[in-house]
Amino acid sequence: MQPQRKPDVRIVESLAQVAEAAADEFIARAGEAIDHHGRFTVALSGGSTPKALHGVLVERSNKNPRLIDWSRIQIFFGDERHVPPDHPDSNYRMAKETLLSKVPIPEVNVHRMRCENPDANAVAVEYDKILASGFRLKESQLPRLDLILLGMGPDGHTASLFPGTEGVREIQKRVIGNFVPKFNAWRVTFTFSVINHAECVMPMISGDDKAPALREVMGAGSPDTYPIKNVHPTHGALLWIVDRAAAKELP
Ligand code: 6PG
Repeated sequence: MQPQRKPDVRIVESLAQVAEAAADEFIARAGEAIDHHGRFTVALSGGSTPKALHGVLVERSNKNPRLIDWSRIQIFFGDERHVPPDHPDSNYRMAKETLLSKVPIPEVNVHRMRCENPDANAVAVEYDKILASGFRLKESQLPRLDLILLGMGPDGHTASLFPGTEGVREIQKRVIGNFVPKFNAWRVTFTFSVINHAECVMPMISGDDKAPALREVMGAGSPDTYPIKNVHPTHGALLWIVDRAAAKELP
């Protein structure tokens, strides 16, 4: 087992600069992946922070259409709320409105979790099949995405892996339905097994409401209490992009 690489923490001034730095990394890694193996596989994150990144990607792509070869990019989702794709809470809807409808990415390249199915576990099984076929996986193999974007809640959750939920401990499966008592709602999410198998995992964290959790995550906090602390890629890079407000309690 290769020694885990030291996480790289980049602290920038503001959410706008989190988005710019994340866009720099997205574009650089997309170019490298496409040159190296003909495509770039990326899992988008939900929440509000990624919207800023999406806006920068749209702006840069429109300014220079040759900057990003969207035809070679395969879009996955690290998690999804268990709602239909046109629901206001849908991560797919947010991504479509802020990014996917504004760049020339073929629809076939966008792989959403089909949460219109009322059974979240069935959605997870179906998405696992999409991953298996997209990455030509055998039974227990893990997909190696080129980039997995993450956010972090004030409670230290990431993707839809919330403190105290069963999904945090799941290591056999690749995608699961995860019931979240605090919302009394189901989610569908990658497990940490998939997240930690990526070439690069990039948490984007902004806002002073994240500062206490980030202090614990970077410090002595428990991975059970702060699930994002389970993110340590086995081979890949871990690049935290954090604004000054979220980083204010770091030593
Ligand atoms: C989701 C996200 C979730 C998000 C965090 C942070 O489905 O909501 O996957 O894990 O990244 O809640 O959200 P913000 O970026 O809005 O703070």
